[in-house]
Amino acid sequence: MAGKIDFIPGGKSITAHGHDSVLQAGLKGGMSLNYRCSNGNCGECRGVLRSGKLERLRNHDFILSDSQKGQGHFLMCSNAPDGDIVVQAHEVDDIVQIPEQFLTGKVKTVEQVDSQVMLLHLRTPRSQRLQFMAGQSVELGGNNGLPTGRFPVASCPCDETSLLFHIPDMPGDAFSQAVFSDALSKGSKLDVRGPFGEFRLNEKREKSVIFIAWHTGFAPVKSIIESVISLRTAEDIHLFRVSPVSQGSSQAERHYLDNYCRSWDDALHNFTYHPVTQRFSLVSAVDVARDIAQDILSGFGNLADYDFYIVGPPAFRAGMEDIINGYSLEDSRIRGCDVCMGLL
Ligand code: FES
Repeated sequence: MAGKIDFIPGGKSITAHGHDSVLQAGLKGGMSLNYRCSNGNCGECRGVLRSGKLERLRNHDFILSDSQKGQGHFLMCSNAPDGDIVVQAHEVDDIVQIPEQFLTGKVKTVEQVDSQVMLLHLRTPRSQRLQFMAGQSVELGGNNGLPTGRFPVASCPCDETSLLFHIPDMPGDAFSQAVFSDALSKGSKLDVRGPFGEFRLNEKREKSVIFIAWHTGFAPVKSIIESVISLRTAEDIHLFRVSPVSQGSSQAERHYLDNYCRSWDDALHNFTYHPVTQRFSLVSAVDVARDIAQDILSGFGNLADYDFYIVGPPAFRAGMEDIINGYSLEDSRIRGCDVCMGLL
């Protein structure tokens, strides 16, 4: 049960491995396909088989009419390719097409990775998955007496069952403080509402990209990078990470998940990781960000081909954009996460 899937009209070609359904193969390939339950209940993942054969993975509750079946309609979550196939399926190309969703996930792990950051890993229910675009945020909490907080999803939409979050220690944020005071543990139930925000990959121009992330601004950037890697169309990806931790700390402490970024650098010929050693804190000014931007971009001969994704506090982003604008790029080439501003 494997084969090449040509998706029309978008023109993406993806190889399905093992027992991957057509939907899983598409999501792993970085596509933004419509779906909801992933198990044959909702009918949202309907596609049309234009050529080739399918292998049924499961019986499904959603009923297709005889006429739909006759026209080749099938559920992408419940069928795998049996050899090479051509499937007609539309991708979500605008976040407004993704409805606000609500689900209750279960905490798989809560892990402190440095003095200021907790990694929160949720599992979604079998019958309900969160559809979102890489870079978007969700609201967490509100159940079992928990406060709510809005945080960017750090995992790739291609992983249907997992939602990852990087929760910073923010004294003024009730949800962050609940996480840091052990209010959540393995098995805790946590409400998830969303997605929100317009920070996402510009799929029309993902060939040469520079990501600049301050502290837990790495979370939405990580989600987008994983999508870019899945798409396999990028030619040149650079990740700059700036940390608020003091100069005296070790490299790993300055940039949590430092090894994760290094593994991308080691494994991918088109990915370069740049851990930045200069310090920027929440109270640093635009000038400091300008200096850092000047420094990190001076190594590039020509920035005209690059798109920029910047996530950090307002002064950080303003300073970065100030320097980047000096290269006379169109405004649309610079993207920032407005929803993330207060969440870092
Ligand atoms: S039937 Fe719900 S995603 Fe396939």
